[in-house]
Amino acid sequence: MSHFPIYRPRRLRANENLRRLVRETQLSVDDLIYPMFVVHGVDVASEIPSMPGCYQYSVDRLVRAAKELAALRIPGALLFGIPESKDSIGSEAYADDGIIQRAVRAIKDAVPELLVITDVCLCEYTDHGHCGVIHEGEVLNDPTLELLIKESLSHAHAGADVIAPSDMMDGRVGAIRKALDENGYDQTPIMAYSAKYASAFYGPFREAAESAPQFGDRRAYQMDPPNVEEALREVALDIEEGADILMVKPALSYLDVLSQVKARFQVPVAAYNVSGEYAMIKAAGQNGWIDEKRVALEVLTSIKRAGADIILTYFAKSVVEWLTE
Ligand code: PBG
Repeated sequence: MSHFPIYRPRRLRANENLRRLVRETQLSVDDLIYPMFVVHGVDVASEIPSMPGCYQYSVDRLVRAAKELAALRIPGALLFGIPESKDSIGSEAYADDGIIQRAVRAIKDAVPELLVITDVCLCEYTDHGHCGVIHEGEVLNDPTLELLIKESLSHAHAGADVIAPSDMMDGRVGAIRKALDENGYDQTPIMAYSAKYASAFYGPFREAAESAPQFGDRRAYQMDPPNVEEALREVALDIEEGADILMVKPALSYLDVLSQVKARFQVPVAAYNVSGEYAMIKAAGQNGWIDEKRVALEVLTSIKRAGADIILTYFAKSVVEWLTE
């Protein structure tokens, strides 16, 4: 490559049209999935204090929100359920009339074109707030798989288009894939939370989903933040077990993980721009300390540049508005 003064990189930055022509990464509505929270009740839309602009919706209001997503051409929604009552084995997670099952049916009925992705995990449904069965203070792996299978089948039965296990138990992707296949759901893709870290960035979500652990933390099953080789091993396992889409979560502090996963595996990769990442931008924006729109677009573009094919973000609706203004 020639160098200065023959080559002057600033030439191609001189105006917006030149910049548009040489831009390497373009955020698009096609990349986005919008996460939503569903609660029991009628006509409920309660804003989550630490996540301004995000709501816990009752099924009727959720359907309205789903219509809005479809009108914005956002490809899919990720659903989290908040049950009326919790118990030690998260029974409502796999109840036929559970909150998610009802929500999925209602959305698929009213807005069939919107992809409905369900988060498969037990923490919102257990009274102890952990993602699995507890014995003597420990989360048991293999007995939890049985419950995750029941939950996944129940979601698929209700009409979920994609199953997204977020529990981080070993072997769950393979167990869920096998159960789906044996029950006639061989066409239902699995989006696996493959590299999910034990992150402090989930704080606002736990308020939204009422899923904070009642004792201890999740470090014995979610990944240790300093590790990247371990993430590559987790991803390799999930591919072998049949994952169709891999996820790295959170996104922003883990762009290196995302970029290595994308470089090594030829599989679609999703990144979850989690609740804490959203809350920080919202809070600083509301204080007038940063420009919310510019910072959010910069962050989301960086997630795509790092290798994400799909971005799960609470900014999804705003992004569509910003990209079309
Ligand atoms: C459930 C789950 C969590 C998130 C997605 N699925 C919370 C957790 O693991 O504690 C976090 C999402 C967010 O912070 O936006 N296990």
